[in-house]
Amino acid sequence: MIHIRPYNSEKDYEAIPRIWEEVGWIKRSEALDVTANSFVSSGRALVAEIDGTTECQVSSMPGAMRYLETNIRFSGVTAVATGYVARKQGLAARLTARLVAEDTAAGIQVMGLGMFEQGFYNQLGFGTAPYTRWVSFDPAQLQIAAKARIPKRLTSNDWEAVHAARLTRMRGHGACILFPPDVSRVEMIAHSGFGLGYYDGVGGELSHYLWMMSEGNESGPYTVQWMTYQNGAQLLELVALMHTLGDQIRLIRLKEPYGVQFQDFIRQPFRFQILTSEGKFDNNNQADARQQYRICDLEGSLAQTHLPGETVRFNLALTDPVSAFLDDDIAWRGLSGDYIVTLGPESAAVPGNDAALPTLKATVNAFTRLWLGVRQPSYLALSDALSGPPELFAALDRVLRLPVPEMDWDF
Ligand SMILES: CC(C)(COP(=O)(O)OP(=O)(O)OC[C@H]1O[C@@H](n2cnc3c(N)ncnc32)[C@H](O)[C@@H]1OP(=O)(O)O)[C@@H](O)C(=O)NCCC(=O)NCCS
Repeated sequence: MIHIRPYNSEKDYEAIPRIWEEVGWIKRSEALDVTANSFVSSGRALVAEIDGTTECQVSSMPGAMRYLETNIRFSGVTAVATGYVARKQGLAARLTARLVAEDTAAGIQVMGLGMFEQGFYNQLGFGTAPYTRWVSFDPAQLQIAAKARIPKRLTSNDWEAVHAARLTRMRGHGACILFPPDVSRVEMIAHSGFGLGYYDGVGGELSHYLWMMSEGNESGPYTVQWMTYQNGAQLLELVALMHTLGDQIRLIRLKEPYGVQFQDFIRQPFRFQILTSEGKFDNNNQADARQQYRICDLEGSLAQTHLPGETVRFNLALTDPVSAFLDDDIAWRGLSGDYIVTLGPESAAVPGNDAALPTLKATVNAFTRLWLGVRQPSYLALSDALSGPPELFAALDRVLRLPVPEMDWDF
């Protein structure tokens, strides 16, 4: 018998780390059992029991996402896992659909996630974000005029300060924050990383740092799991700090920070790519799109959309695939319906249809990508579930000239 219910810290205390270990996310320890449960408790969490044993767990955490200059109410799906005995019963999809419905009912406007594969969360209305780029380089090859001051060491005990600095970091279009500190704590403990940083905040708070993971070899590779800074000068100091490791460490792997072209800092990038290719210390650039967003509150998201330039109005015939995964007891049924949409300096979506306007047909997945500026609308019409008259796409291409959105936080 399958029973779906909210997470219960007493009943599910053992099950959460058990499932996480079974799917390969953690190696259990007393500290991680506590942290995993604290992580799950600090947001919305749902579980499914099979014959009284908890076998599937999903959770989300509240936060904010930047859309140009505004902050949108956001939540991130931070865990979806099904134990081996319960696979392919539809539990993960049903529970995640319920999570979307409950977060939306609580006022969340946009949700985001990191996907294990493209396709699964598309069923629930999520659309793929742009590529994230990973750069691997020899820190000795960094060229930067700035000098790094002597940093402070950071350990997993500094999780609160590390998390607080993530919340106030420099953020661009599409970048999100998740409020509960446990999201940083669990990453820091599970991967036994270390950090180097500076306390330049007005009250002496941690302002900018590198949080890294070593593969255990004295020469590296090191991975910068994330780096946080509040302004450009701090970014340059962190690049200079990486350079100071260049006498020993032969490779650093780093997710390119928002708006940065890291190759600008690398001396002779192609020479070293050729010399190191296919080795353990392979200097290279890689890109993949592993994150997804979906609009949950169309009216609310568009009310916060302020685009420079002209205004375009159209009918939106929207379909939301999440409906097929919502159990009957859930009141929110997804966003399928007809809307009149205005996009411009003041934007809006209101239910209805105006025969005088052109019509855009879209899934919520594709409309989310269009609204965020993942790619030009006329291109998305080729690759995604989006159609309408060419004149409408010509106008949308002009109105939605947005910076590339980047979530800029892995969860
Ligand atoms: C991913 C995971 C949560 C799915 O759990 P689950 O409860 O078996 O999932 P569901 O039963 O709801 O859905 C499975 C269905 O989705 C389908 N599916 C899986 N990946 C898909 C994809 N990329 N595109 C489309 N459909 C997909 C499966 O084929 C299956 O359909 P079927 O039953 O008709 O064959 C589970 O495999 C897991 O825990 N993996 C390890 C942890 C993990 O990666 N979690 C996701 C973090 S983002």
